[in-house]
Amino acid sequence: MRQYYPLTVSRKRFETQDSVRLALDVPEALRETFAFLPGQHLPVQARRDGNTLRRTYSVCSVPGDWPLEIGIRVQPGGAFSSYAAKALSVGDRLEVMPPVGRFHAAVDAANEKDYLAFAAGSGITPIISILRTVLEQEPHSRVALFYGNRKQATTMFIDDLYALKNRYPERLQVHFVFSREEQEFPVAAGRLDRGKVGELYERFCAGLDPDEVFVCGPDSMIDDVTAALVDLGIPAGNVHAERYGAAKRRGAGAAESPAEEKATAAITVILDGHEKSFEMPMYPANGDSNIVDAAADHGIELPYSCKGGVCATCRTHLRKGEVRMASNYALEPWEVEAGFVLACQSMPVSDAVVLDYDKT
Ligand code: FES
Repeated sequence: MRQYYPLTVSRKRFETQDSVRLALDVPEALRETFAFLPGQHLPVQARRDGNTLRRTYSVCSVPGDWPLEIGIRVQPGGAFSSYAAKALSVGDRLEVMPPVGRFHAAVDAANEKDYLAFAAGSGITPIISILRTVLEQEPHSRVALFYGNRKQATTMFIDDLYALKNRYPERLQVHFVFSREEQEFPVAAGRLDRGKVGELYERFCAGLDPDEVFVCGPDSMIDDVTAALVDLGIPAGNVHAERYGAAKRRGAGAAESPAEEKATAAITVILDGHEKSFEMPMYPANGDSNIVDAAADHGIELPYSCKGGVCATCRTHLRKGEVRMASNYALEPWEVEAGFVLACQSMPVSDAVVLDYDKT
C-alpha cells in the first residue's frame, strides 16, 4: 500500500551553504518496507502552516545501511527545502513513502562491469548511492564519475567522493567540472554539455568499455550527455537517466486524440480496494489540469509527489478509457505499453476512465 510513514530525523548536517543532508531513522519493523535499490527516491511530506509540502528526494546511502540518508539542495523559493534547511531539527518527524523509481543499478557481486556516471549539482544524490553500492558490492567493477557544479564550495558530497577515491583508487575515477571557477586544466572548466562530455570521454575513458551509464541532472544536461554518448557509439539503451526540474512538455504520453471541447469525463479510481468517482473536463478543455488535481478538488487524495512526471509516485493502471499524458520521464516503454500512466500528467481523452492503483 502506498502510504506515508512517520520517520524521525536522526542527523542533520549542512553539506554546503545551500544544501543539507538528513538521516532518517527507520524502525526495525519497517526496514523491509523501506528496502531500496541504489538510485531510487523517497516521496517526503511535511505539514507547515496548514499546508502539505511534498517533494521527492533520492536516497544517497547504500542499501542495507541504516538510517536512510537524503541530500536536499535549498532552492530559491523552495518551501520544502527552506523548511528542511532552516526549521527542521533532529528529533522531528517527516512523513515518508517507501522508495520508488526506475532509475537504479542492478548490483550483482559477479558483475565485472565498467560504469560511467554523469551528475550535475544535486543530481549527485542518486549517483552517489549507485557508486558506493557498486564499489562495495561489485569487487570487479569500475566506475568513472563526471560531476558538474558551479564551484567547489557548492559541490555536494565532495568529501565523500574524495574519501571513496582514496579507498578505491584502482576502480574509481572522479572528475569534477566547474562552470564558475577558473581551473588549471581547461578540460575541468565549463558545463557538462555535448562538447565537454566528448572531450572528457576521449581524455579519461580510453581504458574503459562502458556497460552502463547513469546520468542525473536537469533536462538539458541529460539530453546533451545522452547525445554525446550516442555520438561516441554508446547505445542509448545503455544510458539510464533521472531528470530533475523537468520542464512541462505536451504530447509525450500514450494517447493523442483530442476530445470534444468542454465535454466532461467520468473518472473512477480504485485505491486500496475502494472505488471513488468524480467528473472532470476532458482534454483539451482545461489543458493545465490533471487527474490528481481534479480528484483533490473533489476531496479525493491520490498519491503524488513531484507532479512533474518524474518520480512515478502517481503511477496507476488504466483499466478502462483513454488518457493523454503531458509528459513522462518515469515510465518505461513496456509500462506505457502495458497500460500504466502517470495520473499527475494525465487528462481524460475518453468520456469514462477507470484507474486501478492496486495493480502493480
Ligand atoms: S507525482 Fe511524480 S510523476 Fe506524478
